[in-house]
Amino acid sequence: MSQTLTYKILEKHLVEGKLQQGEPIGIKIDQTLTQDATGTTAFLLFESMGLDRVKTERSVSYIDHNMSQFGPENHNDHLYLQTVAAKSGAYHSRAGNGICHQIHLERFGRPGATLLGSDSHTPTGGGIGMIAIGAGGMDVAVAMGGGAFYLTAPRVIGVELTGELSPWVASKDIILKLLSILSTKGNVGCVVEYFGPGVKKLSVPQRSTVTNMGAELGVTTSIFPSDEVTGKFLNAQGRPEAFEKLEADEDAQYDRVIEINLDELEPLAACPSSPDNIKPVKELEGINVNQVIIGSCTNSSFTDLMMVANVLKSYKVHPLVEFAIAPGSRQVLNMMAENGALSWIIQSGARILECGCGPCIGQGFSPANDTVSVRTFNRNFAGRTGTVGDNAYLVSPETAVAAAITGRFVDPRSLDTKYPTVELPEAFLIDDSMIEKPLTPEQAKTAEVLRGPTIVVPESPKDLPDVLDSKVLLKCGDKITTDHIMPAGMYLKYRSNVPEYAKVVFNCFNQPDEPTFAQRALELKSKGIGGVIVASESYGQGSSREHAALCPMYLGVRAVIARSIERIHKANLINFAILPVEFADGSDYDKVQADDELVIVDLRDAVKNGDSVLIHNRTRNIKFTGKLSLSQRDREILLAGGLLSYTKSKSQS
Ligand code: F3S
Repeated sequence: MSQTLTYKILEKHLVEGKLQQGEPIGIKIDQTLTQDATGTTAFLLFESMGLDRVKTERSVSYIDHNMSQFGPENHNDHLYLQTVAAKSGAYHSRAGNGICHQIHLERFGRPGATLLGSDSHTPTGGGIGMIAIGAGGMDVAVAMGGGAFYLTAPRVIGVELTGELSPWVASKDIILKLLSILSTKGNVGCVVEYFGPGVKKLSVPQRSTVTNMGAELGVTTSIFPSDEVTGKFLNAQGRPEAFEKLEADEDAQYDRVIEINLDELEPLAACPSSPDNIKPVKELEGINVNQVIIGSCTNSSFTDLMMVANVLKSYKVHPLVEFAIAPGSRQVLNMMAENGALSWIIQSGARILECGCGPCIGQGFSPANDTVSVRTFNRNFAGRTGTVGDNAYLVSPETAVAAAITGRFVDPRSLDTKYPTVELPEAFLIDDSMIEKPLTPEQAKTAEVLRGPTIVVPESPKDLPDVLDSKVLLKCGDKITTDHIMPAGMYLKYRSNVPEYAKVVFNCFNQPDEPTFAQRALELKSKGIGGVIVASESYGQGSSREHAALCPMYLGVRAVIARSIERIHKANLINFAILPVEFADGSDYDKVQADDELVIVDLRDAVKNGDSVLIHNRTRNIKFTGKLSLSQRDREILLAGGLLSYTKSKSQS
């Protein structure tokens, strides 16, 4: 039977279940990646499972998120990650070497492999023909130990690319176009697979921009075929042996096909404050821009930045614009230093940032109040920049550089300069000296893992009770992101100390002079009453940030009741034994208010066998039904008290 590329790779990796759409399946994971914001928890959990060496073909620990050092917390984390990776058999990319997805693509990714990463933009690897999926750190810890990753066999949306990008129109515009069609909601359980004659006109970095920001669609992952373009990229990275030609069968059937004609694309922008709020740049023309940042795992490749440097060669940054560029990897920065392009950037007045996530994760560069910030990143949820009431637009590097030199939104096609087409180099500059190899098993036996005092092993979840006596701690609306639940920015340094980090759970909803969410939750916890969060659509969208489940678990949250819950976050809730419930009837959302007391009886039985729970709102004396959409494995994890206990019990049986 003819197959999509997605199903071909899944079939090769299937270890459990039947590969039929909608069925739960387990797949073998070839490679894992962790970054520092999620990696400390992942490795702490890996250690708590009693595992000592990773069992994957390649596991890599990256430091890219939090590199600023005010106080010892970050450096304690870095030392822990460096030493635990070496002892466990994982590679370690040191702070300053670049962003995990960029480096993984350059140095480790291979077509046809499965990659599980504790970062939601892991699908970047789909640009090279991998099934690359973002997940919580706990799932990644299990995969590092050789365990399978469980998912629902996906629906596959085929995106047929025809034509060719015009000058000043970028691959970022492809994914912005797709976001305008599919939006950020309703795509859970899908994989986006690209095909068609337009594919071979895109380089691997261009394809990876598309699969990277595909995460904003809420899909499991996105993938491109592996063809001669992929082979050329791997060759230039000095890894020709990693190449394998892979594509869907000619008559492969997709669940839905969307055609994008690249000839007809125009420069687009995601307007505040959602990646699917798309408008053509020409409709924004004239809006003053005060800050421009080019970088992040979406748009910081060598070709992206060489295009920018070539434009800047003949321009100065507009005096009212703060313009910063963060190269995606040291390889990119070093090549631009060698070929002189870095000097063109410096002479233009742009600021060069460290190779890392930087402003994308709120590490500096918060825009001034009531100003416009234009970024080449993948997310612009309200407040992600660190400024309350921010106006962040997401665009291609082409549109960003045009704004940097003119001080306003302009369609880059109207610039009075020729488009600097940049070819992929024949050979990248290879220097892996900041990627540390693991110790041998023999060396590892005596190696010490450094644990600073700010690294605290997380508390284990409590068992699910038979009767859940609870109170609604918070009722929130649509599209609550993991940034709302667990802010990053200046708080990120507490990621290895859950009691400390948990103090800022739902900080955006806290009011001055009133008890915080955390204080109210801990008070309930001390009385043995469970906390409940009530939400509307797409709760937990945005990232794999496991702390958005781990910290609420520590605060005593036992259930989330929502109209819908995003895939990665739902898995994280289950992993930390927080029950994900969906309103059977969406209008029942109106039957619950903050502070209401909710009771669920026979909860363990319902989780064992049932598809629903009856929820009694004791405060209003009304009952409504909550839907349980759980696989058999989800049920077992919840009943075991979370993934850690489940994995331990499995390995003992
Ligand atoms: Fe880092 Fe932002 Fe990507 S935080 S991994 S650059 S989405």
